[in-house]
Amino acid sequence: MTRLQDKIALITGAGTGIGRAAAELFAAEGAAVLVAEINSDSGAATAAAIEAAGGRAHFVATDVSEPAEVERAVAECVSAFGGLDILYNNAGGATADDGKVTEIPLAEFWRTMGVDLFGTFLGCRFAIPQLIERGGGAIINTTSIRAMKATQGADAYTAAKGGVLTLTKALAQELGEQGIRVNAVAPGVVATERVKAILGDVAANPLARATPLGFGTPEEVARTALFLASDEARWITGAIIPVDGGAAAV
Ligand SMILES: NC(=O)c1ccc[n+]([C@@H]2O[C@H](COP(=O)([O-])OP(=O)(O)OC[C@H]3O[C@@H](n4cnc5c(N)ncnc54)[C@H](O)[C@@H]3O)[C@@H](O)[C@H]2O)c1
Repeated sequence: MTRLQDKIALITGAGTGIGRAAAELFAAEGAAVLVAEINSDSGAATAAAIEAAGGRAHFVATDVSEPAEVERAVAECVSAFGGLDILYNNAGGATADDGKVTEIPLAEFWRTMGVDLFGTFLGCRFAIPQLIERGGGAIINTTSIRAMKATQGADAYTAAKGGVLTLTKALAQELGEQGIRVNAVAPGVVATERVKAILGDVAANPLARATPLGFGTPEEVARTALFLASDEARWITGAIIPVDGGAAAV
């Protein structure tokens, strides 16, 4: 398993869900993984699981919405592993407080913008100089089916993920000459613990029911991120890849 042999990856929100699946998968494929996670227990557990499986990992407690913390995570990645080749901006997610513009608590709007959009912006801001230093690299951002289809009912999250989608394309244009590819995954309904807690019966959710292949698992998104991170995707940049069981096609 060597699709990321000798690569160094920083994955945000890698304590649970899709981020954890990606951290374990990237490590199993040969990457050293910097786990940047706000929850110290889950972040340390991901790093420990990778090391127990024979991989290389380092955990740094990181709130992606805090510039100094993201800057430190990137710096610790460089000092622990010698550089940075892959940034996977994964941290984020809607909460049950999201909803209609007229009803969302303003604090929830700014929390969502801070984590999903500003957090992605900050990851790119501090990682790009390191990727340039290595002569190129890959950034994988995380948007959503909600941005692909502009679904109603989670307006803060939809706006934040729309920003991530467009930022991904702009960065792809800016960074191509430096050998840096910038793509995004756009998951549909993925049955992570967070989503199960919000939706209850995931299979009964209207979006999941309307999806040709039903709901997905964290590993299915992680596998697409792995492809985008690897040299197999060397001529792909600026792409928004739905990983959604066909939801975006409906
Ligand atoms: N699960 C889905 O159905 C789905 C659908 C579309 C998009 N996504 C996106 O995929 C990504 C991962 O989603 P998930 O379902 O695996 O979520 P999750 O809640 O299972 O995992 C997210 C992780 O990010 C961490 N985190 C939260 N805020 C953070 C912060 N400020 N700084 C650092 N870490 C932070 C959490 O502690 C958690 O470990 C998110 O960006 C989400 O918006 C998920």
